[in-house]
Amino acid sequence: MADKKFKRYTVTAALPYANGPVHIGHLAGVYVPADIYVRYLRSINEDVAFVCGSDEHGVAITLRAKKDNKTPQEIVNKYHYLIKDSFEKFGIDFDIYSRTSAPIHHETSSDIFKSMYERGLFEEKVSMQYYDEANEHFLADRYIVGTCPTCSFDGAYGDQCERCGSTLSPSELINPKSALSGFKPIQKETKHWFLPMDKYEPWLKEWILEGHKEWKTNVYGQCKSWLDNGLMPRAMTRDLDWGVKVPVKGAEGKVLYVWFDAPIGYISATKEWAARIGKDWEPYWKDETTKLVHFIGKDNIVFHCIIFPTILKAEGGFILPDNVPANEFLNLEGNKISTSKNWAVWLHEYLEELPGKEDVLRYVLCVNAPETKDNDFTWKDFQTRNNSELVAILGNFVNRAVVLTNKYYGGVVPARGELQKIDQEVIDKLELAPSKIAKAIENYKFRDAMAEFMDVARIGNKYLADCEPWKLIKETPDRVATIMNIAMQLVANLAVLGEPFLPNTANKLARILNFEKLKWASAGNIELLKSGHKINQPELLFEKIEDELIEKQIAKLEATKKDNEMENTPVIPSKPEITFDDFMKMDIRIGTILEASAVPKSKKLLKLKVDTGIDQRTVLSGIAQYYKPDEIVGQQVSILVNLASRNIMGEESQGMILMAEDKMGNLKFVMPSDEVNSGSTIS
Ligand code: MF3
Ligand code: ZN
Repeated sequence: MADKKFKRYTVTAALPYANGPVHIGHLAGVYVPADIYVRYLRSINEDVAFVCGSDEHGVAITLRAKKDNKTPQEIVNKYHYLIKDSFEKFGIDFDIYSRTSAPIHHETSSDIFKSMYERGLFEEKVSMQYYDEANEHFLADRYIVGTCPTCSFDGAYGDQCERCGSTLSPSELINPKSALSGFKPIQKETKHWFLPMDKYEPWLKEWILEGHKEWKTNVYGQCKSWLDNGLMPRAMTRDLDWGVKVPVKGAEGKVLYVWFDAPIGYISATKEWAARIGKDWEPYWKDETTKLVHFIGKDNIVFHCIIFPTILKAEGGFILPDNVPANEFLNLEGNKISTSKNWAVWLHEYLEELPGKEDVLRYVLCVNAPETKDNDFTWKDFQTRNNSELVAILGNFVNRAVVLTNKYYGGVVPARGELQKIDQEVIDKLELAPSKIAKAIENYKFRDAMAEFMDVARIGNKYLADCEPWKLIKETPDRVATIMNIAMQLVANLAVLGEPFLPNTANKLARILNFEKLKWASAGNIELLKSGHKINQPELLFEKIEDELIEKQIAKLEATKKDNEMENTPVIPSKPEITFDDFMKMDIRIGTILEASAVPKSKKLLKLKVDTGIDQRTVLSGIAQYYKPDEIVGQQVSILVNLASRNIMGEESQGMILMAEDKMGNLKFVMPSDEVNSGSTIS
């Protein structure tokens, strides 16, 4: 069924940067699709190497280290293990999850660079670069901060303004400063090695635009636009002290460009894996009968479709990708996922807060995968998909079939009798399912594939609902035996076909069925369970998700949003100086609220009766959005008692309640740390 041209597969999933944890966007865009693809290939007995690892070099890592006051190695160690663990727990079944700080990777990427260098494949060029004199350090674009020419944000980076999103170059920044020292950088000469991309342009055009018209529209389109705009030589080295050292004389203090070394990480990881199991790595990267597939997100397209293939082509000994099924982005509750703004559902947090629901997330992210356009993840949708699809269709069908088989036959699969039309229809549909699902997976259409898989459960659900065996068991037990046999065969098929999508669930099904999971080729018929086979007791496959759980997650995001707004709102400026006498003019006391009521026609005001220790008086206070009248009776407050009385909305207000107000304008009472008598003075 799979591509006969190929004898083996090398499947890569983008190496995540080890400068933060992974989130649902990563899973939806790259790792769930890649994992489904690979699990399917394994099920059809293909020879596959599924490789990934942490991307541990580059400026993003060094900046993060600086920010956290750690060394880059400390940062990557922390996140490498966190990321690896998250992937494992979600069942992303890599053959190896390596890392680019591994010695084998330094060796591999260094050797490839060297071999290309020795054959004169790079152009050596001297150019002017920003330099920090105080630190004696060249500055990557990210290391230069200044004022954004577009939005005036004063923390814009030399490559991008994170406030307004515009792409920048360091020379565009107003008042550029070194992020290392805070001083103005100077321009200084530096030498770098460039890959002459322009020379490979005709070949790339032929290879992609003519040779790979079958690539996804979003991928092909981005490639075409890059190629139409014309390619320029691109530096493959950087002035940085974190990364793979440039193995060339006169390149001290320089490392390989992270986009040169990281994709080579796929090769290093394959070597490491092969050595571990005593295999030869070379066919996986050098034999034309190997199908190389890169799973990535859309921001990686140019690197995997244009730059890395150019490196491989120039090097000469390697195969090129057959496909690069890149996805678009997943948004979260209507906003772009952002690590710096903490706008994400982090996988390690999900695992803790929603334990045992790994497959639920795999499911929701797959049916919502941003395959052709950006998509939105919402917790409400997550809940609905769980409750009305996983629970109501898949879980419900399996449970009914297993419960009834246990009830009627003591858990022994009964023998079938003569088939009726309705049985035959189910059998015919089931027969088509494996190839439909396979075709969708082979074409990287994982949403369609999942839908086809769920259809098998739908068929089963409808079959039981239509046949109503519970009504027939007394009158025509033979008929019920046939129905239950077929239902159980469908459950067994779900265990086989579900393996790529929902591995935990497939394992559970196999356990319930008391059967060894079979390979893909065995699916599509009603011979998977022999009559007389003894199954186990039912286990709950999925449980209903209550509103409370969802509301908690939404509240967590709301809190993040508030924090971010806080951070972005400027500090309230200070007022002009006053004298001590000015201050002493104010008579501020502790009072106690005796009564509180809403003010008709006002959304903001509450009418309060306050015991000031001197008297009881009426004060109107603009706190109605923050406090309900009955929850503040008895509350101690600070009150300015000698403020001239004012008429507000037809009411006489005597004095003013003092409130603490944050940047966002939220109000809170100012009160003593312990209860004191009303009338106590504040000074
Ligand atoms: N670390 C990169 C990112 O997260 C992806 C690197 S993919 C590789 O965008 F090919 F370079 F490894
Ligand atoms: Zn800006």
